[in-house]
Amino acid sequence: MRSAVCLLLLALAWPVSGSAAPAPERQAELLRMLRQDCGSCHGMRLTGGLGPALTADALQGKPWQSLSATIFHGRPGTPMPPWKSMLSSDEADWLALQLLSPPPSGLTPVEAVPRRQP
Ligand code: HEC
Repeated sequence: MRSAVCLLLLALAWPVSGSAAPAPERQAELLRMLRQDCGSCHGMRLTGGLGPALTADALQGKPWQSLSATIFHGRPGTPMPPWKSMLSSDEADWLALQLLSPPPSGLTPVEAVPRRQP
């Protein structure tokens, strides 16, 4: 019971805390979006299609900040659309980090992502 109250307080404090990691339900939603929406261009397994491969290998060496910016703002002049109406910039950060290091199980990871520098 006590831990339930703590969880509730944590959930309420979440936006204020400034942490970049989305809540678990939202993480699942974002990963579903990655497979369905992003997969329509980047391939069902993100190995490439109309858009380039988004596997950790393919993205090796690319800074997560720039991948996040591409997800959030899109790439004008290319078919890569902006997703800022669908997700927050913190969520774009989180997705970019998922792409660079998918969790071994392929399921929702629990690690927090680094905070955006002010
Ligand atoms: C309508 C097709 C389309 C959809 C949908 C799409 N992309 Fe893209 N994406 C592209 C194309 C095309 C590029 C390459 C742009 C270029 O030429 O620079 C790209 C580039 C990228 C890059 C940069 C890759 C690199 O190597 O620098 C990332 C990251 C990315 N997309 C992530 C996503 C994510 C995440 C989603 C879903 C939220 C998504 N894309 C949905 C077409 C799409």
